[in-house]
Amino acid sequence: MTAQATIEVKELTSALGAEIRGLDLSAPLSDTDTTAIRQAWLDHQVLVFRDQHLTDAQLTDFSRHFGDLDSVPGWEPFSPAGHPNVLIISNVQKDGATIGVLGDGEASWHTDMSYLDQPPPGSLLYSLEVPETGGDTCFMSMYAALDALPPDLRRAIEGRLLNHDSSHDSAGNLRSNHTAFEDVSTAPGARHPIIRIHPETGRPALFLGRRLHAWVVGETVEASDTLLDQVWEHCTREEFTYRHRWQAGDLLMWDNRCTMHRRDPFDAQARRIMHRTQLKGDAAVEAATLA
Ligand SMILES: [Fe+2]
Repeated sequence: MTAQATIEVKELTSALGAEIRGLDLSAPLSDTDTTAIRQAWLDHQVLVFRDQHLTDAQLTDFSRHFGDLDSVPGWEPFSPAGHPNVLIISNVQKDGATIGVLGDGEASWHTDMSYLDQPPPGSLLYSLEVPETGGDTCFMSMYAALDALPPDLRRAIEGRLLNHDSSHDSAGNLRSNHTAFEDVSTAPGARHPIIRIHPETGRPALFLGRRLHAWVVGETVEASDTLLDQVWEHCTREEFTYRHRWQAGDLLMWDNRCTMHRRDPFDAQARRIMHRTQLKGDAAVEAATLA
């Protein structure tokens, strides 16, 4: 007799997001539940697990069920000791220095590390301390945004490549070891089709990375900005999004290949501590994303 998955999947919005109930992620995960979670992840794009109590080792072990893990170049000092694949996202200060990255400001819409040739397919974010208000994370379905794109706009971007700037983080700050530039067509980074095929679901999705410093390859900067502004105005409609209001103990797992996310700012005096892992991109799988 085949083992039954123990999880319950509760859809959060019609566009994306599902809460997974019935699992303690600190315990070993069965193959059946791993398969069920992976399928729910592909179906719903963002998964929410509430009321978890995870050590960094348990967060790492759970994340590894879904692929090899990666770290973020330049942010190695912000990993907990002994856990190089865990990154601390926090505004909390200790001994005059911040213990994590991204501070308390807004993080604008983005896909994690789309400026790499092989971007991470997914990320996981676990909350240890959260402010009472602010700091919500919003997710956008890039399947739903593409499905609803006006035909003339879709034709304008079909077959086009987008340059994904690698020199700024999702809070808009210039990364260390990068120099500022005036002309976005000279920005460093990776080039990806604006419409990509998801390698596991086979569904086409918009892949925009982030708006700041993006450039449609081959266009003048003005024409590129006009086109991208139209696409972004279409995408950032509430009907394509899910807003997550964090509680301590939440673990979120999202698919970077078909979603974007953003974060609200929060009170600088409040404490917010998140631990994050990310899945490693793969060149062979990446080749399957070419439309
Ligand atoms: Fe992010």
